[in-house]
Amino acid sequence: MPETIHAQLAADIAANGGVVMLVGAPDTGKTTLAHQIMTEGVKAGRSIAYVDADVGQSTVGPPTCVGLRWINKAEDLDDLAKADDLRFVGSTSPERLVLQQVLATATLVDVGRRTADLVVIDTTGAVSGVVGQTLKYHKMELCRPELVVALQRGTEMEPIIGMLRRFFAGRVETVPVHPEVSAVSPDERSTRRQKGFAHAFEDPLERWRVRPTVFAPTISAGLDFARLDGMLVGVQDGDGRCLGLGALEYDEGVLRVITNCGEGMQGLRLGSLKVDLKDHRVQRVNLREVMFGLDR
Ligand SMILES: Nc1ncnc2c1ncn2[C@@H]1O[C@H](COP(=O)(O)OP(=O)(O)OP(=O)(O)O)[C@@H](O)[C@H]1O
Ligand SMILES: [Mg+2]
Repeated sequence: MPETIHAQLAADIAANGGVVMLVGAPDTGKTTLAHQIMTEGVKAGRSIAYVDADVGQSTVGPPTCVGLRWINKAEDLDDLAKADDLRFVGSTSPERLVLQQVLATATLVDVGRRTADLVVIDTTGAVSGVVGQTLKYHKMELCRPELVVALQRGTEMEPIIGMLRRFFAGRVETVPVHPEVSAVSPDERSTRRQKGFAHAFEDPLERWRVRPTVFAPTISAGLDFARLDGMLVGVQDGDGRCLGLGALEYDEGVLRVITNCGEGMQGLRLGSLKVDLKDHRVQRVNLREVMFGLDR
């Protein structure tokens, strides 16, 4: 029975510790299994780092970011929204920013590994196609999990499992999807994402005037700042961490960032989205097009 398999697996992982990465297509129960593992981990007295690498349907921190949350007691699992550490990716689809996605995840796994004895990596459902497979290949390469748990329906994960087993030493186990897993509709996903952005931009919002030198990537001299209006940015400290999200505003010749996490801000990372702060809807943009007016 899948129920028993999942419960047994969660208990075994909690007992063994180490770094475990959960992979599977969308709606296969990755986040739910992560919870089960952490619940068992807490019971076993483990110190746990939960690395939420799902930048679209984020559990820890806002969308577009990979979040880390320390879990040491059962109550820590009740509300996972607040991140203890955050890395900016800049998109809600990891397929578009593979480098940023892999590095953000691997960095937080390293942070987790230094302190916790169980690190649980929850990933996005991108598991197929060249980009999905490349993403998982490099996540495996850099995060070096001792165990990968692949949740699969039928044989859908076989290609990626075969690849990971061939190229890496970490153990890869497959588990059937739980029969009670229910699909989340695209509308519901989009509503949840919108709520995530609304939460990231809740009051008290402040407007900070920004100099053109604070950006990564740097912006070229002569850029019409009006092109940056509405751009989503990661508000960064001076040590690689993301403090939260911001939105650029260009008004009457002045460029500002609107954010609720401006204290300690050292720089702004440009993402690949524009955000409307009235309804918290986002729209994909091509950063090169924004910067140069063409895709090059
Ligand atoms: N073992 C289970 N028993 C009952 N319901 C479950 C179980 N696992 C998952 N579900 C339900 O199925 C839905 C999808 O599960 P979950 O969010 O864990 O999947 P996911 O793979 O993380 O999805 P996503 O691709 O959106 O990240 C949720 O509503 C969840 O409550
Ligand atoms: Mg999930």
